[in-house]
Amino acid sequence: MGWNNWNAFGCDVSESLLLSTSEQLVSLGLRDLGYQYVVLDDCWQKESGRDQHGKLQPEPKKFPNGLKSISDRLHEQGLKFGMYSSAGEMTCARYAGSLDHEIDDAESFASWGVDMLKYDSCYHMGRIGTPLISFNRFKTMSDALQKTGRNVLLNLCNWGEDFVHTWGMSIANSWRMSGDIYDSFTRPDDLCGCDPTVISDPFCIAPGTHCSVLFILNKIAPIADRSIPGSFADMDMLEVGQGGMTDEEYKAHFALWAALKSPLFLGNDVRAMSASSYSIVNNPAILALSQDPHGRALTRVRRDAGPDVAKDQWGVGETHVWSGYLDNGDEAVVFLNAGAADLDDMSCSLAEIFTAFGPGGSAPHVQHDWAVYDLWAHRMSEATAAGIIAAATAEERAALLKKADWFNATETSYAEGLRNGDPRLFGEKIGVVEAGGVLRAPVKSHAARVFRLRRIAKYGETFKGKSIDRVARDEL
Ligand code: GAL
Repeated sequence: MGWNNWNAFGCDVSESLLLSTSEQLVSLGLRDLGYQYVVLDDCWQKESGRDQHGKLQPEPKKFPNGLKSISDRLHEQGLKFGMYSSAGEMTCARYAGSLDHEIDDAESFASWGVDMLKYDSCYHMGRIGTPLISFNRFKTMSDALQKTGRNVLLNLCNWGEDFVHTWGMSIANSWRMSGDIYDSFTRPDDLCGCDPTVISDPFCIAPGTHCSVLFILNKIAPIADRSIPGSFADMDMLEVGQGGMTDEEYKAHFALWAALKSPLFLGNDVRAMSASSYSIVNNPAILALSQDPHGRALTRVRRDAGPDVAKDQWGVGETHVWSGYLDNGDEAVVFLNAGAADLDDMSCSLAEIFTAFGPGGSAPHVQHDWAVYDLWAHRMSEATAAGIIAAATAEERAALLKKADWFNATETSYAEGLRNGDPRLFGEKIGVVEAGGVLRAPVKSHAARVFRLRRIAKYGETFKGKSIDRVARDEL
C-alpha cells in the first residue's frame, strides 16, 4: 500500500511533490492505515541519459538534493521509497531503460535506499512473445536486486503480456495484469485493447491504456486465484479522488481492489483531497479485507450480463457476485451492479457464495446460519473527514483522528485487530442469512455492496472454544 505520482501528475515529478505528499500521508493518518510506499514513477532522469560510467542520473532541476536525501527523509517519517524503471532500452516516457544494465541499475537503486521497484516493459527490443522470453528478461532484474543484498519489493509492469499470471510470482511481489487504468467506471475505449473475458487471447498484444474499472474486473476474473501471499496480481493504481467517477463508483473501485488483493496505491493528489475521497480510502473495514492474513483474492461466483440486466448507454450493464474465504473463517462477499438501473433486490444463494468449497450446495458452509456485516456502515462522516483535512497543523489532525478513535495499523496490525474482533474492522451487522438461504440486498447503479458473512454457531456445538447455549448464540 502506498501512493504513486503517475495517475495525478504524470511526468511532473519533483522532490517537493514527493516530500509534501509524504507529510500529508503521515498527518492524514494514511501511513498508519498502511499506505507506506511513496513511489516515484517515470520521468525522474536527466534527458541526456546515463553518465560516462553508465549510471542512471536523476534530473537535478527536479531533484536538487539527489534521491538518497529523499529516501532518508521518507525513512525518517516511517515511510518507504519506491522508484521506477523499464526492462527495455527506454522507459515508456523515453528515458534510459534498464535492459542489459540490470546490475548497474540495481546497485544505483540500492545505494539510493530504494525499497520498491516498479519495473515496466516499454521498448523491450523485441524480447517478448513467449512466457520464457519475458520471464528471463524480468528475472535478470529480480536477480540483480537480490544480489545487492537490499530488500527491494519488485512490481512487474508488463500489463499481463506473455501470461505473466503464470510466472510473475516466481520472481516478483506483484505483476500488472492489464493495460493502464483510467478514471472511468465502465466506459470502453479502443486504446484498451483485447477481449477482457478471454484471458488466453494470444492476440492480446497491446493491452494499452484507458482501461475502465469494469474492464479490469472482467480481465482479472479468470485469473483471480493466481494471487498468492507475497505475489499479487496488480490491477493498477487507484483513481479514487481524480474526479471522473461518482462517489459510489469510487467506493466500488476501491473495495474491489482491496478484496481482490491488488496492491493499493493511491493515485490522486493527497494534498488536495476531498472529504469524500479521504473517507473512502481510510475505511479500515475495507482495508482489513486487503490485508487479511489469508492473502487470497475473492473470486467471481456469478456474472449476469443477459437481457435481464439493465444496460447503460455503453451496453455494458452487468452484475457480478464475488466471494472469498478470510483467515478467521468469515466469508467476504461483494455485490456489484455495473448496470444503468438501481436494483432493489440483488441476490445470491449461500450455495453459490460457497461454491469454492463444493459446487451445487455441497459445501458444508451452506448448512450454517450467517450474520451479515456491511463493511461501509462505519465510513467516516463527511464532517469528521472535512475537519481533519481542514486542520491547520499535523498535531490538530492527530488529535481529531484520536477523537474519532480511528484505526491505527502501526500500533495494532490488521491481523491482530481481526484476531481480537476489533469492531472497527467489521462494519455493522445488518441481518442474518439462514442455512440454505439467500443473501439479498439493494444495490444502486454503478455501485457495490461489500459484506462479511460471519458464521453463527449452532445450539449445542462447541464453537471457537465456547460451548453454545441459547444465550451464547444470541450474543453472536
Ligand atoms: C506505463 C505504465 C504506467 C506508467 C507509465 C510511465 O507503461 O503502465 O503505470 O508507469 O508507463 O511512463
